[in-house]
Amino acid sequence: MNSLQVLMEEHRVIERAISALAGYARAVACGADHPRQDLADLVSFLQDYADSHHHGKEEDILFRVMVEHGMPVDGGPLAVMLAEHREGRRLTSVLAELAAEESEWSSERRRRLLLAAMGYTQLLRSHIQKEDRVLYPMATQMLPESAWQQIESEFSAFQAAPPRAEQAARLERLASNLADRYGTDEEAM
Ligand SMILES: [Fe+2]
Ligand SMILES: [Fe+2]
Repeated sequence: MNSLQVLMEEHRVIERAISALAGYARAVACGADHPRQDLADLVSFLQDYADSHHHGKEEDILFRVMVEHGMPVDGGPLAVMLAEHREGRRLTSVLAELAAEESEWSSERRRRLLLAAMGYTQLLRSHIQKEDRVLYPMATQMLPESAWQQIESEFSAFQAAPPRAEQAARLERLASNLADRYGTDEEAM
């Protein structure tokens, strides 16, 4: 797989975790008392896989190389992608606070969970579509072969660095397990 294929495969994993988050939040909003630990696991996936692992490769490698080849970073598609990564972090921190609380789900917490989870779900689904359909094809068009060789080699080093490879595989299994339990095929909440 080349680096864009790797990123798109990761999008499919993230989409499964998002469907689990949507299913979990909707059920809790309707009164279910699902374990907090499952929300904590979802948050750990969003922080360590969707953000550190996936957005990390985008920001530190792909986007950086695009900027080095003339793509503006203070406006246009890259600025939008970076702003959406930041908004995803903000919503994840709201989810992390809710996961860390030990008290019962109150109606106020159930509502906050639904709002943050819905916000994250909608944000990431549209973000992923923009990258798959617009940004990555743009990168394919604008970057020369030498840039792709550099990206491939930096991706390999990033992914091989311990404990990253084992952690990514563990988080992919976690997302799959949570999606089996809470996931929904519906596109919208
Ligand atoms: Fe992204
Ligand atoms: Fe992405």
